[in-house]
Amino acid sequence: MATSALSLEHVDAFYGDSHVLQDVSFELGEARMLGLLGRNGAGKSTCMNVGMGLLGARNGAIKVFGQPVTRLPPEQISASGVALVPQGRRIFRSLTVRENLVVAARKPGTAGRHAEWTIETIFEMFPRLQERASQMAAHLSGGEQQMLAIGRALMGNPRILLMDEPSEGLAPQIVAEVMATIRKLKESGLSIILVEQNPNLVFDVADDIVILNTGRVAVVSTPAALQKDDALLRQHLGVF
Ligand SMILES: Nc1ncnc2c1ncn2[C@@H]1O[C@H](COP(=O)(O)OP(=O)(O)OP(=O)(O)O)[C@@H](O)[C@H]1O
Ligand SMILES: [Mg+2]
Repeated sequence: MATSALSLEHVDAFYGDSHVLQDVSFELGEARMLGLLGRNGAGKSTCMNVGMGLLGARNGAIKVFGQPVTRLPPEQISASGVALVPQGRRIFRSLTVRENLVVAARKPGTAGRHAEWTIETIFEMFPRLQERASQMAAHLSGGEQQMLAIGRALMGNPRILLMDEPSEGLAPQIVAEVMATIRKLKESGLSIILVEQNPNLVFDVADDIVILNTGRVAVVSTPAALQKDDALLRQHLGVF
């Protein structure tokens, strides 16, 4: 694999006494997309939280472009170029669309060779956000809220984007729009982890696949190989 953008190396993570991630290792290559799959409760969001520094790893290492960030707080991990689009969007519901974007603005880091995102370029990508710029975020549709959550992450000018179930709760047509956006972001050179429960959504866009099962890495593969292996998918993801 080319340069590693983000790696988890033998990570153990706990919520209280509950040992949620066990010896988890995987690597996102630069400008690649890694699909992270697993059933409810498999540990996908926990991996994203550990990657972002929101939850500390008890053992193991997290590296961003080869630099250890394991014990750093989220602000410093963000400054190193990582952004999270959290599960459930978590936008500021009582702020306007524009305010949600403005509060997330950050200049690109020294390493930033990617497009510098501004309110203007975000609005070019999501014209509907521009139309609703002065509305309270709470009044947006689910799809628009997801676009705002993505736009807010991009305002940090990341090199690595962690997207936690961006399709959750959206109608199929809106899911298709969100996936088209994700594809464009990948083409722009961002390195992306796309968390999903539905493998068919990621098979189209991901280069690499990791499947978690009860807090452990169960499978590291590619879409092409996995699409031929129904038995393996059923074993780790259930019936779909
Ligand atoms: N804040 C928390 N405190 C205690 N346990 C938690 C907490 N968050 C998650 N867990 C537990 O950790 C395990 C992994 O949860 P996680 O949210 O990472 O799963 P997930 O793969 O993202 O699931 P989903 O697809 O439902 O979002 C689950 O057993 C869950 O119940
Ligand atoms: Mg989750």
